[in-house]
This record gives sequence, structure tokens and C-alpha cells, in this order.
Amino acid sequence: MSQAPLAKPKPKSQPQGTDLPELLAQSILRLPQLVRIHQPNNKIFKENLILFIDTLNALWNIQNGQIDIRLHRGRLYINKERIAFSPALLVTSTKLMEFFESRRIFGFGFRPKEDLDAEEVVEFIQIVNASQNHEKPGVFLSEALKDDWVKPILDDDFKIAYLFTDEMASEGAPGRPLVWNSTPSEEGGKARRAYSRAMSEFSKLNDSINSAKGLVNFSKSRRVVQDLAESLFQNENILLSLSTIRDYDDYTCSHCVNVAILSMCLGRRLGLSKMEVATLGLGGLFHDLGKVDIPIELIRKPGKFTEVEYEEIKKHPLNSVCRILSLNADNAFKSKLFLPPFEHHININHSGYPATDLKAPVSLFGRIVAITDLYDALTSSRSYRPVPISPDKALEIMVKKSGSEIDALLLKVFINMVGIYPVGTLLVLNTKEVVMVADTPPNAEAGRPRAYILEREEETLKKGELIDLAEKNAKGQFARKVLYCFHPTEFGLVPTDILL
Ligand SMILES: [Fe+2]
Ligand SMILES: [Fe+2]
Repeated sequence: MSQAPLAKPKPKSQPQGTDLPELLAQSILRLPQLVRIHQPNNKIFKENLILFIDTLNALWNIQNGQIDIRLHRGRLYINKERIAFSPALLVTSTKLMEFFESRRIFGFGFRPKEDLDAEEVVEFIQIVNASQNHEKPGVFLSEALKDDWVKPILDDDFKIAYLFTDEMASEGAPGRPLVWNSTPSEEGGKARRAYSRAMSEFSKLNDSINSAKGLVNFSKSRRVVQDLAESLFQNENILLSLSTIRDYDDYTCSHCVNVAILSMCLGRRLGLSKMEVATLGLGGLFHDLGKVDIPIELIRKPGKFTEVEYEEIKKHPLNSVCRILSLNADNAFKSKLFLPPFEHHININHSGYPATDLKAPVSLFGRIVAITDLYDALTSSRSYRPVPISPDKALEIMVKKSGSEIDALLLKVFINMVGIYPVGTLLVLNTKEVVMVADTPPNAEAGRPRAYILEREEETLKKGELIDLAEKNAKGQFARKVLYCFHPTEFGLVPTDILL
């Protein structure tokens, strides 16, 4: 390129995690316009270039490899997973769809490149603009983009198309999700209401802690956790499937409620009494309470923390203890609650934080909450990781820490409880059936679950037969093979609606 090298200007602010997919989409739309009206050294243009590079770097970091941004059947995806929609993103994705369609491509694949510089990005954008004048813009793009850090995606060979059988996929109206139309059972409805109450009471408690200096009454939170424990002793599966409810906009709240639920389920498996289970549940609910004392921008920061920032984050377990002590309840009861919040980031080998001189082993409740916290954090969308890790991969990551950081025995019971394919997971089988995991019977061969076949009826889905994935054919092999495993929210499905 002939122009003078571009100095690297400072961006106004670092890209925020929740916005990363949206920022990438917006940059792809904005930069081709800016390059037409501004000189390369224009301040606004430079800032946008750097924002684009920083966004890509953050995404490469989070995804640990190539980033594909593409439109498939009217939806925007980053790699294989659908981006959670916000109203603002709907506008961007519509524009981006037109942008891709007018160039007859499905998207762009960005391969990680260290020290990607502004000049290379300008070259990319100029080629994108030039492609408009070509008869076959997609072909032109793939030939003109010689650097392999960016390539156009020319075909729509996207696995998600096979979520339903081939003919179903071709029949489906693009972008129109199928709806679930049956009403949940009475038992399920009750558990769901208990979950919503837990969410609303906990968010009220969070708000009052944020605004009030005095003692905060938490008797209502206590009651909702007792209700959840009651549901658990009636039907474990209902509660387990509730924990798959994700509310991306209110991550902290749903994370804390999920940690409470998963901890209670694990506690019950270990033979704790209903009262102990409820106490454990509250400990789980309050484990991150101290995060209210940390600036929200820091909690939402994408990518790695600086050393100073990490020191700040590491204060939250101790903050949680202080917050619990200031709650309005008797001291004997509060003393039972603060161990899990204090210990949930201390590993069994005493690494982690906060650093203590204690030689005593981490308490049982602390070890339980450490497992459920990590599992829920890995399997949900986070500000620094917009795309969640699938449950089976999350368990794989946890198994690697087993025995050194995580209690091996408890992890075994936990995996047994959630199953290799947790309740609510969507599986696509080699038989072209799409199923939702219902439960994993104790001692199931190779941890293979039972699942409901999802049948399509026009624009709605229907719960079909319950099948056992441990079933074998005449040759003694498993009759069905799992091809793909998805989180149900990727397809807008709520497991509790289907399973309960
Ligand atoms: Fe935490
Ligand atoms: Fe947490």
C-alpha cells in the first residue's frame, strides 16, 4: 500500500464483553463507509480501526482460535453458536444480512493474527468496497484477500441446518423459530414459580444491599430457598432442569440462583437433610454477594484482568462474608452461611483465593459450591465469553482439575447427577432424530441418558416418545449415536416447558 504507515492511536475505551459480537458486526458495517469519506489519519476513522482490531483480539482470545461471523437462515452466529439477541443487535443483524447478501457471501472468517495492524485492516476494507463492482463479488473477495487472516465464507454448509432432518430444514421458514405450545404439568409449573420467586427475591435483596447502608432483611430469600428445597425432595429432575434457565441480561442473578439449585441437588445426593440442603442453598445463593462492592465495568470486562484489577476481583469472597454478616438474621444462622462464599475460590490444594494460612481442608459446603459455581459459570454466556461452553465440554475441563483443585469424589457424584449430557441438552442423533435429554438413570451404561424425541408439527414442536440412548441393536452396539450437542437456548427452547 502506498500511504504512510498508520500510527496506533489509543482507542476511546476497550471493547466490552457483552458487546463483542455486536461491535464486530457494527465495525464490518461502519468501516467500509468510513474508509470512503475519511483519510487514513482521520481521528474517528483511526479510533474505529483500533476498536475493530481490539474486538477481534478479544474474540480470538475468548474463542481460542478462528472467529467466523455469519448469517444462517436469518440468524447471526459467531462460530457455531447463535448470538443472544438484544433489540439493538436485531437492527445490526438485519443490516449485516443485507451487507453479506449484496456481496453474495455468508460472512467472514477471521483467523487469529498476532500484531494485526491498521494498514492490513484498511486494505481488507478497501477490497470489500471494491467487491461491489464485480459480477461475482464473493469470488473476487476470496481471490483478492491474499492474507489469510480474513476470508469470505462462500457456502452455507452449516451444521445447525441439520438440527431438524433435511427435509424439515428446507421446509422451515428462515429465521422463524418453532414454538412450543403445550402447557407444563402442575408439578413443573409450581417449581417454575418457585424459581421465578427466587430470582425476584434475590434481585430485590441485591438492590436493597446496593442502596441501603443498614441491615437488610433476607427472610424472603430464606423462604424461597426452602420452597426450592421442598421441590427438590419431591422431584430432583424438575429442579435440575430449572437450573438450565439462562437469563443473559441478568447473569449475576440467574448464576446465583443456579448455583444455589445445583448445590442443593448435589447436597441431596450426598444424603444431607432437608434443613442442611436449604442452608447449603442459601450459601450458594449468596456466594457472589460481595460482587456488589466491585465496579460493574470491572465485572463485565472482557479478556484478561490486569494484576491490579485481578486483586480487586479477588476481594469478592471476603466482601460476601461482610455482606452476609450485615444481613438481618441471628448470628448462629449467619455463621452457617458464610463458609461457602468465603471458600468457593479456594481449591482443595489451597491454591486460589483468598490466600489463607489455614491448613484445614476446605469445608464440604465450600467444596460443593466451588464445583457448582465453576460449572454454571462455564456453561453460561458471560460478559467475557459471549458464547457458552457446552455442558459436556465444561465437565471435561473440570475433570482435568479433579483431585488437584476440585474434590474428585464430589465431582464424580456431580457428573453422575448432571449426566454427561445434562437434563435439557439438545442432541442430534445419527438417526436424524432431535431429542432433549430428560434424565440419566442411575448406573446408566456409559452415562447414556434417556431423552424425548422432538417432533415437528407445522410451526410447533411436540414432545414425542421417550427413548433410552443406552439401547443396543442386534450387534450389541448402541442403537443411536450422538452427532451434535447443543444448549437449548441456542434455539430459543426452554427445557422446563418441554420436560415438565
Ligand atoms: Fe465467585
Ligand atoms: Fe460465582
